[in-house]
Amino acid sequence: MTSIFIGGAWPYANGSLHLGRLASLLPGDVLARYFRAKGDDVLYVSGSDCHGTPVAVQASQEGVHPGRIADRYHREFADCFRRLGFSYDLYTRTDQPFHHQVVQELFSKLLENGMLYKQTVLQTYCETDRRFLPDRYVEGTCPVCGSRARGDQCDYCSTLLDPADLTDRTCKLCGSAPVERPTEHFVFALSRFQEELADYARKSAGWRENAVHLTRRYLEEGLRDRAATRDLTWGVDVPVEGFEGKKIYVWIEAVAGYLSASKQWAEETGGRWEPFWSPEADDAAAYYVHGKDNVPFHSLVWPALLLGVGGLRLPDRIVSCEYMTLEGQKFSTSRNWAVWVPDLLDRYDPDSIRYFLIANGPEKRDTDFSWREFIHSHNGELLGAYGNFVNRTLAFIVKSFEGKVPRGSLDQDGENWDSALRELYGLAGRLIEDGRLKEALELVFAHVRRANKFFDERKPWATFKDVRADCEQTLFVCVQIIANLANVLEPFVPFSCAKIAGFLRLGKPAWRFAAVPPGREVQRLELLFERIDPKRIEEEERRLEESVRGAD
Ligand code: MF3
Ligand code: ZN
Repeated sequence: MTSIFIGGAWPYANGSLHLGRLASLLPGDVLARYFRAKGDDVLYVSGSDCHGTPVAVQASQEGVHPGRIADRYHREFADCFRRLGFSYDLYTRTDQPFHHQVVQELFSKLLENGMLYKQTVLQTYCETDRRFLPDRYVEGTCPVCGSRARGDQCDYCSTLLDPADLTDRTCKLCGSAPVERPTEHFVFALSRFQEELADYARKSAGWRENAVHLTRRYLEEGLRDRAATRDLTWGVDVPVEGFEGKKIYVWIEAVAGYLSASKQWAEETGGRWEPFWSPEADDAAAYYVHGKDNVPFHSLVWPALLLGVGGLRLPDRIVSCEYMTLEGQKFSTSRNWAVWVPDLLDRYDPDSIRYFLIANGPEKRDTDFSWREFIHSHNGELLGAYGNFVNRTLAFIVKSFEGKVPRGSLDQDGENWDSALRELYGLAGRLIEDGRLKEALELVFAHVRRANKFFDERKPWATFKDVRADCEQTLFVCVQIIANLANVLEPFVPFSCAKIAGFLRLGKPAWRFAAVPPGREVQRLELLFERIDPKRIEEEERRLEESVRGAD
């Protein structure tokens, strides 16, 4: 049996999820559902990234312990993922003892293997607050454009900065001028993996274009060693004497969550994590699903850490999204130019959200979310094409055939639905495995449209009166199409597919041809989707504008 590992990116627990983030995570759940239906062994994990400066900054702004912030957003994330139908085998968090222990073991192993070395570096220190300052806590003048910038990056000109690059520096906490102080840290010898990683990247197949390009660019620029520890109070302790009070750098630590979550899952369920992580196994594949900003950490840093430890499987597939914009502009959490996932879930069907984010997913280039497109896609495609086909077929059977699926045969129908449906599994499956989810969904929807056309042309409402056998044959074929749609659409829109499975008593979704025998009774038929009043478009647009004004 094939072992498929799927690692979804770990969102920072410092604020609610917005739609752009969700767009980069959803492909993970589609893959997981698909491979399970196909009969493979799937381990799909992720969790909340609870450490790191974003969480610490949010906590100091609110004057609470970072753990409180992490708790709040972890709970919110877990709830959103549940409502969206994400089928994680484990969704955990990085601020738990289990994760800390796995990370420390990994760190010690890297140390033992000589992949970490000590270095004294100058770091920004605030004498008033008596602490080293994370990059984002240092503010000053950007050397490139002269705007006021943070120590990690200038938001105005996007230059990546080091706190030492800034002039007129101030501490974000107290406003006084910081100094430089020597401090000892561990450095990860990333540059030593240059050849091995170049080789790995060259041989890799099935990475998204952006991952291929970005990785190549970093390799051409030459890999540089990276800080492995930080002077921070919130994070995983460095398991080395003399390093008390220092923490393992969040990037090393967060990516190690893929391994810690796998081990935690094994411990909690009695399953085995090893088949998913075995480097040589031919009957295994590891998918990593995230946004473009995360690429180097998954295509270079994490593979280097795994090579440094040894005996663990590297990523096979990198499914990295481009960005999604909102009404033509970049999402901005500080301006509140965003659609927040919990809000969206309060007002809309999870399948509508999932459908939109895949059909308009930023797979190869940036795409846009607009309320107009979102509501049109629900009314036009989900309800108009798919929902309608299911409803008009099954409602007809309920009304005119006492709810019993009429007699007919699929392979004798001139339209060749039999082979079309059987082939659909292979075609859509290959696209999904390649991470081309949008094309897979388009392909299925082409069949939905064809099915509607079939229904229109066969006019069962007319044949019902005089050529009853034709009518029965048409409806029989339509029911077979519906049963197979419930299979091939399940990874994308699982809630409506579960409803169909209920109407037709289909059992668990499987990635193979399904047949419904004549005589089976349609049960508890209801609409798959409600129409959304197009007036909502303007309402939502207004709400968005108002929320921005509120934030200004
Ligand atoms: N929390 C980080 C982000 O949201 C990293 C996510 S993926 C990880 O960008 F595996 F590196 F944690
Ligand atoms: Zn600048």
